[in-house]
Amino acid sequence: MARITIDEREYEVREGQNLLHAALSLGLDIPYFCWHPAIGSVGACRQCAVKQFRDDNDTRGKLVMACMTPALDGVRISIDDQDAREFRESVIEWLMINHPHDCPICDEGGECHLQDMTVMTGHAYRRYGGKKRTFRNQELGPLVNHEMNRCIQCYRCVRFYRDYAGGRDFDVFGIHSQVYFGRQKDGVLESEFSGNLVEICPTGVFTDKTLKQHYSRKWDLQTAPSICVHCGLGCNTIPGERYGMLRRIYNRYNSEVNGYFLCDRGRFGYEFVNGSGRLRRALVRRARDGEATALGSEEALNLAAAAVSNSGVIGIGSPRASLEANFALRTLVGADNFYAGLSERQHRLSTLALDITRNGPCRPPSLSEVARADAVLVLGEDVTQTAPMLALALRRSVRRAPLKKAAGLSIPEWDAAGVRNAVQQEKGPLYVISPAGTKLDEVATQTCHASPREIARLGFAIAHALDVKAPPVTVLFDHVRALVTKIVAALEAADQPLIVSGGGCGSEEVLRAAANIARALRHKGRPACLSLTTPECNSMGVALMGGGSLTAAFEAVKSGQAKTVVVLENDLYRRAEAKSVDALLAAAEHVIVIDHTGNATTAKADVVLSAGTFAESDGTLVNNEGRAQRFYKVMTPDGEVRESWRWLRDLMLATGRSEIAEWTNIDDVQSALAAALPVFQPIGEVAPPADFRMTGLRIARQPTRYSGRTAMSADVNLHEPQPPEDLDSPLSFSMEGYQGQPPSPLVPRFWASGWNSVQALNKYQEEIGGPLRGGDPGKRLIEQDENGEAPYLPGVPREGERPMGYYLLVPAHHIFGSEELSVLAPGIAQLAPQPYVGLSPDDARGSSLEEGQEVEITCGEWSRRLPVKIVSTLPGGTLALPVGLAGFGWLDLPALGELRNSREDAR
Ligand code: SF4
Ligand code: SF4
Ligand code: FES
Repeated sequence: MARITIDEREYEVREGQNLLHAALSLGLDIPYFCWHPAIGSVGACRQCAVKQFRDDNDTRGKLVMACMTPALDGVRISIDDQDAREFRESVIEWLMINHPHDCPICDEGGECHLQDMTVMTGHAYRRYGGKKRTFRNQELGPLVNHEMNRCIQCYRCVRFYRDYAGGRDFDVFGIHSQVYFGRQKDGVLESEFSGNLVEICPTGVFTDKTLKQHYSRKWDLQTAPSICVHCGLGCNTIPGERYGMLRRIYNRYNSEVNGYFLCDRGRFGYEFVNGSGRLRRALVRRARDGEATALGSEEALNLAAAAVSNSGVIGIGSPRASLEANFALRTLVGADNFYAGLSERQHRLSTLALDITRNGPCRPPSLSEVARADAVLVLGEDVTQTAPMLALALRRSVRRAPLKKAAGLSIPEWDAAGVRNAVQQEKGPLYVISPAGTKLDEVATQTCHASPREIARLGFAIAHALDVKAPPVTVLFDHVRALVTKIVAALEAADQPLIVSGGGCGSEEVLRAAANIARALRHKGRPACLSLTTPECNSMGVALMGGGSLTAAFEAVKSGQAKTVVVLENDLYRRAEAKSVDALLAAAEHVIVIDHTGNATTAKADVVLSAGTFAESDGTLVNNEGRAQRFYKVMTPDGEVRESWRWLRDLMLATGRSEIAEWTNIDDVQSALAAALPVFQPIGEVAPPADFRMTGLRIARQPTRYSGRTAMSADVNLHEPQPPEDLDSPLSFSMEGYQGQPPSPLVPRFWASGWNSVQALNKYQEEIGGPLRGGDPGKRLIEQDENGEAPYLPGVPREGERPMGYYLLVPAHHIFGSEELSVLAPGIAQLAPQPYVGLSPDDARGSSLEEGQEVEITCGEWSRRLPVKIVSTLPGGTLALPVGLAGFGWLDLPALGELRNSREDAR
């Protein structure tokens, strides 16, 4: 620790940080622009000037930049010094020379760091009367808006986009005062993390284009803590609502999970909540393929209750529904009749991933731990597409080894320019082994593209090379052997080696191989970590709950054991062959579906109960690490919408299940869940209960400046309506309530006096960049015995043999398009690719095929005509199929298939 003096007061701070970081951590205010805790200091804006004194006798001192000055023992500074204050005021005056002062029409207005800093420095009057510099703005695609005239040249955007997130299509251009931040020419921003520009730019240059379609000021947004539902990482978010419409998603800081950032799928995928496909009323269908008609909730409930009162009811749960909703379904149908709602392969992969996480060699790392790894092997997963923020963490991890070099030169980590000069483009070891090229390949030490089977063999070989007790792999090509040797050397030399894998390429062998590598490293005494991705927001939660696969559910109906099927938030056509789903739905006497958005399954249901989305429900999701996290409704739903668990509770009550009457709120469901399944016992510790109060008050979802409350519904009733009551949480749907800092799981927004922008977050952290006060939200449900001696996993696959004329079909995932809900957002849909088949250049040449030419692909009974996309990184004999895209249908991959060249057929 270092003792420093600030304005005659002594403080103890952690040594090695810079003075700005230290002062902000102490709760003191120093204005700043170019510094950001995630991207460090460059000393560019000169806004954070303070006066530094040599010792007690130094009365003159000198101006230094707080962000560039280490907080060493004995340092004496003044923030309040007159020279420092005047300097800071003049800095903001010159930064504002060209600023258009268009705050009233700027989307950033009211939550702008530049506004805050202008007020903080006391720059109140504009003296400059000359002509302002103006720029032409760029069209950057459907997600991010550009208004360059507002720029103050802090360089944060380019440092985040290029240096932190690895984007290449965005830069700084120009000379003198004509400094321009954008792309070389108009075009969609290529980085999957482009939306973070909205939060990292301290002014209104980059704003949320989706918010612009239905704009609302920050002070008019009702907000609540939430969790992203678009992949299995569980990034923390803050959705904002106004007039019953979800307006935007902002980052909710969690130092262990997403830190300061979100991916674009998570930030912009929210618009499905407002979509025309939403189900706002219960529906009933008198004939299976007939038209559905809207029905009152109670009537629909009675119809559904009559169906489930019959014997032979099964429930199909969902990895995109909350724990509470899945548990309510399990309670309705009984544990033996509950199915997890996954295809056979997904179910096996998910069970295996859980097994490895539980009994595996090490505790799954959080994203912040991933970023600290100094040698990484990615085995079989295209993480940029399946778990984007994990890819961002891996991009940071390749900086670990070079950072050690910089530390050896006494350059602190926060000195971004110093570090960059010292290490240039150097990167630490990252090996990516995948079925085709991935975006991480550009920062990889070496890549290898192979079939899932070959990837698994390579993985098993690495484990065996690390520890001879691991299952051996016979017959390896020399180049594979050489790669194994290199990877083993890198993992062994690292202080914190990391293996990343998942079910993305559909192979259990790949998962087993990854687990064995981590175990072999552990056996050698290395502190290895293993991070496995999970595909959906509650995949891990459903795996913990148990239940059979969809195949078993289909069998139960086919055998006549089940007559009624209750489907929870699950489009079965995305998980199984259409023929099998059709057969299931045809064989069942009654099909009841609870979902929030119409899909192929709701289109066949007898009764559809209209559920709330994440924005209209409370619940708990378990991320890939086994971290349970709570989300809260940000708005009360429109129409006759209820949370899924409430529909199920009401259904049970309607069938006379009196014990369920105790389920008055979500806390009761959680208690029942914890009692029924011990693994969920910590669920009560994830967040405070519904009766929790701060100074006797609920926590207000609306800020104190929320406007229009008395006028919003004046067209309906001149009397101000009573705010809706929230039975499930300590949050209120009102501006009345506690406006200070609640426990971290309940923080509905970051806002502090004088800090209206996202940077108010500084006031919520124990230390800048560290955990939120009182600890980050979330509770791990799975703790491993890291010293346990679980055996190596068997199952080294044999070398693959492909029958003549057949190709290996492998899944290709797309951040925009493969996920069911986000693709319903117009901005994301615009970025989603059209269905295609990926083909290697050699195979394309061999079959005389050109880019865009249509071919027919068949796999069993599945058949599609698709345009060819030549993928230079795809190995010969392999076809990549973009899974999950709308209209693509379900296909169990990897599998063997055939390609027919339509042009040749025509000849
Ligand atoms: S665009 Fe924003 S982040 Fe980039 S330099 Fe200008 S003010 Fe800074
Ligand atoms: S990485 Fe996954 S959880 Fe995080 S914001 Fe993106 S889609 Fe959401
Ligand atoms: S924040 Fe210190 S110079 Fe910009």
